Amino acid sequence: MKRESLPLPVVVPKIAPHQKRRQRLANSLGEGLLLLSTAAEAPRNGDAYFPFRWDSHFYYLTGFREPEAVLAIVLGKKPRFILFCREKNIEREIWDGFRFGPTMAREIFSFDEAYPISELDRMVPELMGNQAVLHTTVGADAAWDARVTGWLNTVRAQIRAGISAPAEVHDVRRDIDAMRQIKDAAEIDIMRRAGQISSGAHARAMRVAKPGMFEYQVEAELLHEFVRHGARQPAYGSIVATGGNACVLHYQENTAQIRAGDLMLIDAGCELDSYAADITRTFPVGGRFSGAQRDVYELVLAAQLACIKAVKPGNAFGKYHDVAVRVLAQGLIDLKLCKGTLDAVIESGAYKQFYMHRAGHWLGLDVHDAGNYRQPNGKWVTLAPGMVVTVEPGIYIRPADKVPKAFWDIGVRIEDDILVTAKGNENLTASCPKSVADVEALTAG
Ligand code: GLY
Ligand code: MN
Ligand code: MN
Repeated sequence: MKRESLPLPVVVPKIAPHQKRRQRLANSLGEGLLLLSTAAEAPRNGDAYFPFRWDSHFYYLTGFREPEAVLAIVLGKKPRFILFCREKNIEREIWDGFRFGPTMAREIFSFDEAYPISELDRMVPELMGNQAVLHTTVGADAAWDARVTGWLNTVRAQIRAGISAPAEVHDVRRDIDAMRQIKDAAEIDIMRRAGQISSGAHARAMRVAKPGMFEYQVEAELLHEFVRHGARQPAYGSIVATGGNACVLHYQENTAQIRAGDLMLIDAGCELDSYAADITRTFPVGGRFSGAQRDVYELVLAAQLACIKAVKPGNAFGKYHDVAVRVLAQGLIDLKLCKGTLDAVIESGAYKQFYMHRAGHWLGLDVHDAGNYRQPNGKWVTLAPGMVVTVEPGIYIRPADKVPKAFWDIGVRIEDDILVTAKGNENLTASCPKSVADVEALTAG
């Protein structure tokens, strides 16, 4: 049997959606040359590297996960789609693992042409000559910018030979960002699954966490659940915070020992097939909510449910944050943590002592996903089917003179991933326990 006829030793993503996206982008750009590089490998310490994570824009258009790869599209009525990638190298593959090489990559990833990455410096100036526009990233990576400048200068030097360089360099990220803002069916399938896996991980943490354990031991339960389902890493650094640590918005130490009676706030989601889930849950470790904990929890939950209702097509992106502010501010007044009328508490920003972040963000290939939040006229972007947002209001109560002690160190955030649909929305993380009864069934069960 010939080697080529054996199954590939790596999983190849479904290529059709990637191919459609690059065709659509090419149609919208019209003319010029597009050049897009994947990410650089990131050194960790000594001679070790972080696990390689491809560039999200590059991956969106190619599905290709190897380092040292560049997408080129010669735009026009019949665009030429070209991949530059590492050559096959049996010696390196013995040490580092399989690589496609241009011949196999062209076929499997459906490119018109593919060349060794070592050909880039020779071929790019040729592709660039007499093109009116260069579409690439500008200012995203200094090393890439320097290479682009070098290629532009190589072409500029050929002016007396009748070859001109692009007069315009266009940052193509904004065009790809706009596409990424509306998820296609393939993306939604993956995100639904990422949401389910992450929901299972949170449920497992609720069940397993007990006073006396360390935060990192609960973190290990999350990672176990992610990896055993094929989601090999978290989409961002997991926050596993007990007691007052829950009031540190980006807490990632995860080293404290859990005390009886404390809440635990976990903000964690897996990355599955390059897509992020982003879930926060807060629960009473190994027991039930105390009175004050429950008051705060139910307030945040009421705010979150009201916000989710405001995520629907036609609504401004900013609307559900405003809903969060109104519900939380009224709740803070009712709990006597803020004084004055609702309008006064909102107007003065007094609620920000306890709720100081926005209610959500785009979600997709990046946890804080690509895409504008405001239109060029300054108005919020209007929600449309295919957009995915997080909805994540919270209340964080640090010890303070005018705050009753029963509330000190309570930090509660509840976060779900919401897909905007034609009729309203779909909660991609609905299977993650959230009501007081469902949470306590796991923590006190
Ligand atoms: N986990 C990051 C965020 O919630 O925005
Ligand atoms: Mn989060
Ligand atoms: Mn989030």
